[in-house]
Amino acid sequence: MTRVFSGVKPTGHLTLGNYLGAMRQWAAVDQYRADSLFCVVDLHALTVDHDPARVRRLSRQAATLLLAVGLDPELCTVFVQSHVDEHARLSYVLECVATDGEMRRMIQYKEKAARERERGGSVRLSLLTYPVLMAADILAYGADEVPVGDDQAQHVELTRDLAVRFNQRYGHTFVVPRATVPPVAARVMSLQDPGSKMGKSDDAGPGIVYLLDEPEVVRKKVMRAVTDSGREVVYDREERPGLANLLEILAACTGGNPEALSGVYESYGSLKKDTAEAVVELLRPVQERHRALCADPGYVEGVLRDGAERARAMARPTVDAAYRAIGLLPAVSDTDAGVVLNAAR
Ligand code: TRP
Repeated sequence: MTRVFSGVKPTGHLTLGNYLGAMRQWAAVDQYRADSLFCVVDLHALTVDHDPARVRRLSRQAATLLLAVGLDPELCTVFVQSHVDEHARLSYVLECVATDGEMRRMIQYKEKAARERERGGSVRLSLLTYPVLMAADILAYGADEVPVGDDQAQHVELTRDLAVRFNQRYGHTFVVPRATVPPVAARVMSLQDPGSKMGKSDDAGPGIVYLLDEPEVVRKKVMRAVTDSGREVVYDREERPGLANLLEILAACTGGNPEALSGVYESYGSLKKDTAEAVVELLRPVQERHRALCADPGYVEGVLRDGAERARAMARPTVDAAYRAIGLLPAVSDTDAGVVLNAAR
């Protein structure tokens, strides 16, 4: 069966963009058709300035939301990255396969590092090596497919390069994965700046609908979305990006088609109103389940414990094989040692 791996980074509250662009597909399709793992990648949240308590809180929240959107622990594996040592173990080995030039060419690194330096801050070494850790996340599980937004395509490309290079040098060890980018219509843009994606790490609150925003807050944000000059409602991504974004959100919420929907509306106001209601209705069941899960923290903890155990069992053999292949001396395991001791007795 196809294996799917994807991750959410607990650096901010999850957004409508995360849901429509990724999580909804995981819950509605991937968990049924594939052997899938969904991971709260908390180690990645430490690559930039962070508040430890906030990362902890956001990690728990992200895990709870993964369940709230409908991921079923009976069907897929939901876990937290730092609970499984194999990620860090494999990351180091892959650092011995990657080059520094390769790392410095990563667009996301260049952008984030430049922004950090502009602010007079320092750049953590882990920001540079981040894509190697991401490669380890994916390769440890032998994932065939990695559903991610197109901003992550370059990192998955690097993952492929590292897998191929390792396999060529040290013998076949890793499955070479491929990125599966969600349909274009699922690319939700900021309501205030339709040229940039509705990402959780940008803290421009008014342009971003968070999964846990109250209905009143959702309505306010959608009603205040920037629209383009002009009056008639047309679907044109290039010329009318603000309007196109609203039409796409409405279409994604209601299962409609943005082009067709543009014909239905006479004014921006009525389009915004319907879009706001559609988002509120989309989020309602997610928020209800989230509330129920928060009332039962023991359940979520249990899911994460089982998830980590399952993940560990999957990753361990591959990471062990990579250690052997690259030349590390196998440790005599405790059970082997027990046999030796018993035999000596
Ligand atoms: N880099 C991804 C992001 O910023 C998160 C991530 C980390 C990830 N490891 C992953 C995604 C492995 C898919 C697979 O969104």
